[in-house]
Amino acid sequence: MVTMDEIVSLCKRRGFIFQSSEIYGGLNSCWDYGPLGVEMKNNIKRLWWKANVQLRDDVVGIDSSILMNPKVWEASGHLQNFADPMADCKVCKKRWRTDQLSEYKCPECGGELTEPRMFNLMFKTFMGPVEDESAVVYLRPETAQGIFVNFLNVQQTMRKKLPFGIAQIGKSFRNEITPGNFIFRTREFEQMEIEYFVKPGTDEYWHKHWIEQRINWYYKLGIRKENIRIREHGKDELAHYAKACVDIEYLFPMGWSELEGIANRTDFDLSRHQEHSGQNLTYFDDETKQRYIPYVIEPSAGVDRSLLAFLIDAYENQKIDENDTRVVLHLHPAIAPVKAAIFPLLKKEELINKAKEIYSNLKYRWIVQYDESGSIGRRYRRQDEIGTPFGITVDYQTLEDNTVTIRDRDTMEQVRVHIEEIVPYLEEKIEVKF
Ligand code: GAP
Repeated sequence: MVTMDEIVSLCKRRGFIFQSSEIYGGLNSCWDYGPLGVEMKNNIKRLWWKANVQLRDDVVGIDSSILMNPKVWEASGHLQNFADPMADCKVCKKRWRTDQLSEYKCPECGGELTEPRMFNLMFKTFMGPVEDESAVVYLRPETAQGIFVNFLNVQQTMRKKLPFGIAQIGKSFRNEITPGNFIFRTREFEQMEIEYFVKPGTDEYWHKHWIEQRINWYYKLGIRKENIRIREHGKDELAHYAKACVDIEYLFPMGWSELEGIANRTDFDLSRHQEHSGQNLTYFDDETKQRYIPYVIEPSAGVDRSLLAFLIDAYENQKIDENDTRVVLHLHPAIAPVKAAIFPLLKKEELINKAKEIYSNLKYRWIVQYDESGSIGRRYRRQDEIGTPFGITVDYQTLEDNTVTIRDRDTMEQVRVHIEEIVPYLEEKIEVKF
């Protein structure tokens, strides 16, 4: 299996992910997405949106603000409960989450630990010019609350009937005690969340439905089945709002770890918001003529964690023959940052002109690259390493019959295709049938 160091190194070398503020020595656990990383991240978000919003008649999207009225966090329970137990090593002064320790001593130096204290994970800041308690606001630790407080706005304006969902993609912030493993656990990250509102009593059915949907999304995008598993939370590890929760776990280099959580949040959040805001957040059921607070099923995925899983799953250091190896990312074409690279076989004007013409046409549809430098073999390898699924080469035959070769990244085989057929050929392979 690939190591995290290999992934970090590829990400830096090829412009996927850089350390944040690197020229100043970086900032712990903060990362910047480079030109290829941002394309890949956008692809993941678009594919999630497509599967969960565009293709579903029962889910609509929103984009709520990161800063919210602090009463939201009182109502949601985050001010009181969103905390991890933390202790410091009396010898080396390192700080640890005590619920993650197998023995109560410092995992690094074996030193004695202080008594555990609860540490709230929300980032605090001030709104406006006066820095006193009344001006405190929080950076949201989950996108979910922006959905709950808009439940009625969306339900009424979209005239939605249960069951229906509201989806959102956006940044969340947590002052994690022990961030790490590259982009796996950071203090600023992006979430893709759905709050799916259902009639109480149907919640267990919908919970199963969403677990299935979400696993299939990863499968459709090429994640290997043996690297995904489901783990049900024990009663002692459930979040303060959940009746049940299932994690989709991925086999990361550091072991099986959470990729996505799918929780049954019951009517906890809407009830609390109704209580704290004094607004009536019940739903009127036309069929039964009853008013009630819906239950909620919540599939909650991390954009950064998904991107990391897709990279790890796709990475191969492949031995081609006795003298030749290559690093190749077998990314699904829909996820790959660059869809195709266009090469003139040789640096000759007539080949260059034709290749640039093809490049100009394709870039209207996809992110593609044009490359004329170095041997054709080296150009293929550069693209293999960033996961570009197709290499389109213009040669002398192209000038005679308007055909090009298209090389497949994984098999390295080539087919001859008429120039007019390039778009349908690529489209068929890039499009995901969810
Ligand atoms: N609204 C529910 C919720 O936020 P969570 O299990 O705390 O649930 C959901 O987070 C997902 O968000 C996780 O499965 C993970 O993919 C991502 N996530 C959470 N904390 C993260 C962090 N510190 N760094 C990166 N991703 C994180």
